[in-house]
Amino acid sequence: MALRGPVLGIETSCDETSAAVVDQGRVLGLAIASQDAHAAFGGVVPEIAAREHVKAVDAMVALAMKQAGVGPSDLEGVGATAGPGLVGALLVGLSWAKAFAFARALPFIAVHHMEGHLFGAALEHPGARPPFIGLLVSGGHTMLLEVRDWGRYRLLGQTRDDAAGEAFDKSARRLGLGYPGGPEIQRAAERWAPAPGKPAPFSLPRPMLSSQTNPADPAYFDMSFSGLKTALAVQAARLEGEPGGLEPHVPALANELQEAVVEVLVEKTARAAAIISPPRRVVVGGGVACNTRLRECLEERFGKDMVFCPSPRIATDNAAMIAAAAAWRLGRGERSSWSVGADPALPLPGLIQASVGAINGPRGTSTEIRYTERKKPVHVP
Ligand code: KG4
Ligand code: ZN
Repeated sequence: MALRGPVLGIETSCDETSAAVVDQGRVLGLAIASQDAHAAFGGVVPEIAAREHVKAVDAMVALAMKQAGVGPSDLEGVGATAGPGLVGALLVGLSWAKAFAFARALPFIAVHHMEGHLFGAALEHPGARPPFIGLLVSGGHTMLLEVRDWGRYRLLGQTRDDAAGEAFDKSARRLGLGYPGGPEIQRAAERWAPAPGKPAPFSLPRPMLSSQTNPADPAYFDMSFSGLKTALAVQAARLEGEPGGLEPHVPALANELQEAVVEVLVEKTARAAAIISPPRRVVVGGGVACNTRLRECLEERFGKDMVFCPSPRIATDNAAMIAAAAAWRLGRGERSSWSVGADPALPLPGLIQASVGAINGPRGTSTEIRYTERKKPVHVP
C-alpha cells in the first residue's frame, strides 16, 4: 500500500537531475535536467555530474512542485536515490532530500535506483504489477528478476560483465557515433537496408545462449555483453584497414549489434518466464527499455498485453520512479536513518534466495525452484 498523499522523489545517481511529485501512483509533477556537459567526453564525468546536480537540484524541485500544484506542507514524505550510482552525484540529491525532509519533519526513505526502475512501468500501466518477470536494462545494470510481490525480488540472472546499455554506449563510441550510444545505435540500425536475398554481411555472437542451455547450469539466466562489444571492435578494426573504411558499414554493424543484444535479452527473459506460472507478465525498466526493436521482439514473444515498457521519460532516469518506490516503502512504515549515506554499490533490498534444480523427466527438462528468505543479497542460482 503506497503512502496516501504526495511524495517528493529526487534522483541524481548519474547525469540526470530529477525531482517529481507522485500521489498514489499518479505523477503530478516531473522535472528532469539532462546534463549535456558530458557529450564531449563520450561518457559521464563523475565530478562534472556532481557539480551539475548542485546547480540544478533546487530548480528541478521547484518545477516539479509547481507542476504538481503542491507546496512543502502538502507533502507526506520524501525519497531520494541512495545508490547504486556515482557517489558524488548521489550525495547531492540524497543530502538535499534529507535536509529538506528533516527541516519539515517529513518521513524520509533512501531508495535503490534499480528498485525505482522496477516501479516505473506501473506509473503508466495499471497492469505492471506483481507477479511479473522484471527485465532491468540500464547503462550500469542488466538484471532478470522474478517479482512475486513488491519488495520481494528473486535475482535469476544478471550480466557477468558489461550492462546492455554499456555495450551500446561503448560500441557506439567505437563506431564513431555519439553519446549516449543506445539511441545512436538504434538510429544507425534503422538506416540499414538489407540487400534483397543476401545474408546479413556481419555476424556477431549471441553470448551465453548456445552453451548455457540447461536450467541446472548456474549461468542459465546470466548474460555477458563484454565479448560482444569486443567482437564488434574487431570487425570495426578490420573494416578500417579495407578500402572504403568503416563508415559505410556502420548501419549494418549497428543493426547486428542491436539484434544480438535484443536476442539475448528476449531469450533470457523467455527462460525466466518459463519458470513462473501464468500470467507471464514482463515488466521492463531502464534506459534500454526505450529500444523499439527490444519492445517489438518482447511483444512478439510474450504478446502485446503481457509486456509493460514505460515511455522513454519514465524508462530512463527520472525521479517519478523513485517517488513511487519511496511511497510504497513509506506506506509500509519504513523510514531511513538521517545518517544514511550514499552507497555506489548498494545491494537491492528484499532479495530472496532460491535454489534452482533441474529435473530430467521423460518429456525433457523442467525446473524446480525452492525459496528461502535471506537478509543478505545473494546471486541466484
Ligand atoms: O536507466 P538509464 O537512463 O541510466 C542508468 O541507470 O544507467 O539508462 C541509460 C542507458 C544508456 O546506456 C543508453 O545508451 C541506454 O540506456 N539507452 C538505449 C536507448 N535509449 C537509452 N539503449 C538502446 N536503445 C535505446 N533507444
Ligand atoms: Zn537508471
